Amino acid sequence: MRMLVSGRRVKKWQLIIQLFATCFIVSLMFFWEPIDNHIVSHMKSYSYRYLINSYDFVNDTLSLKHTSAGPRYQYLINHKEKCQAQDVLLLLFVKTAPENYDRRSAIRRTWGNENYVRSQLNANIKTLFALGTPNPLEREELQRKLVWEDEMYNDIIQQDFVDSFYNLTLKLLMQFSWANTYCPHAKFLMTADDDIFIHMPNLIEYLQSLEQIGVQDFWIGRVHRGAPPVRDKSSKYYVSYEMYQWPAYPDYTAGAAYVISGDVAAKVYEASQTLNSSLYIDDVFMGLCANKIGIVPQYHVFFSGEGKTPYHPCIYEKMMTSHGHLKDLQDLWKNATDPKVKTISKGFFGQIYCRFMKIILLCKISYVDTYPCRAAFI
Ligand SMILES: *[C@@H]1O[C@H](CO)[C@@H](O)[C@H](O)[C@H]1NC(C)=O
Ligand SMILES: *[C@@H]1O[C@H](CO)[C@@H](O)[C@H](O)[C@H]1NC(C)=O
Ligand SMILES: *[C@@H]1O[C@H](CO)[C@@H](O)[C@H](O)[C@H]1NC(C)=O
Ligand SMILES: *[C@@H]1O[C@H](CO)[C@@H](O)[C@H](O)[C@H]1NC(C)=O
Repeated sequence: MRMLVSGRRVKKWQLIIQLFATCFIVSLMFFWEPIDNHIVSHMKSYSYRYLINSYDFVNDTLSLKHTSAGPRYQYLINHKEKCQAQDVLLLLFVKTAPENYDRRSAIRRTWGNENYVRSQLNANIKTLFALGTPNPLEREELQRKLVWEDEMYNDIIQQDFVDSFYNLTLKLLMQFSWANTYCPHAKFLMTADDDIFIHMPNLIEYLQSLEQIGVQDFWIGRVHRGAPPVRDKSSKYYVSYEMYQWPAYPDYTAGAAYVISGDVAAKVYEASQTLNSSLYIDDVFMGLCANKIGIVPQYHVFFSGEGKTPYHPCIYEKMMTSHGHLKDLQDLWKNATDPKVKTISKGFFGQIYCRFMKIILLCKISYVDTYPCRAAFI
């Protein structure tokens, strides 16, 4: 009897809090519109996320009347057979621009190397560089070079849209469509920028353990929670109210690197065909698709933000991705995948030493957007 009463009371309180929160948010949305500075937008987005946390109407508003509308782009370079007749653990897309030959080259020699993964880690990955077309001014020459590069390495897919920041969502749609058409049996799909570092041995070991337990509904990376749309017109990330009218995006993982399971790839592809894809920030768009099908991202502390990982073997032992590596990629690959790294934290003193080093490296007072302090305690 008592329990029943208190249960009812809780319900009532919840209702009142919900009501209050809704009024609060609605008033913020209407009255604070003109003072759209950074702090206000973050306050709005956080209160929105924590108090309301519902994005159902996003689905309603962004849903297309007819599915799979919008332009479809032709493949200029493709490798339909790339995944065929093989057990593929990871389908890895690298988002790259036509002129970034050097980056692709470094990736082929390091973390994107399929042969290394097969021979050293005993797993099949498929690496594909995802591209649009060079901008019209330099199109012919760059395109010729790309075709030549692809004849050499057979690892480029390219569709007939101009490769630019504002076309990133088109690139995302290409990746999901390719995966769905030519590689639906891949256990995991990853999409990555071409200026990051991936610790393939750690990642593969992790994915193999997940595969063993038959993981589903899986989406992992660096999660942005309740991020507000940027309303400053001078910003690269500016998003108009017409494109997205709410104060916060559903949670999503930073586009620099995230991994999803094969079932999620299929469902996100379906969802992407039913939503208006004019929102050009590709990771946010991915978040909207995932939200529509009820998939929530998980935060992995060793997927980095915008920052670079500190150079240290105790970090290498656990790291998954790190951001902003161009000149140091080869060196870091060599150092971080050295088998000695795995022995550094062995034993009692090794453990103490690494715990101590990680606290020093990660728990700084000044904010560096790499792994969070709590990563030192894992
Ligand atoms: C995106 O690609 C389309 C198709 O090539 C092109 O018309 C458009 O200008 C591109 N958008 C941007 C912002 O580059
Ligand atoms: C998608 O949304 C944009 C506004 O961001 C709008 O201009 C466009 O007409 C919409 N497209 C479709 C097919 O509904
Ligand atoms: C999203 O919208 C579509 C059509 O508007 C609806 O059929 C579907 O059930 C909605 N999904 C969710 C998760 O609300
Ligand atoms: C790799 O290790 C060498 C030798 O220990 C060191 O000099 C170099 O700075 C390291 N580079 C990176 C990127 O970790």
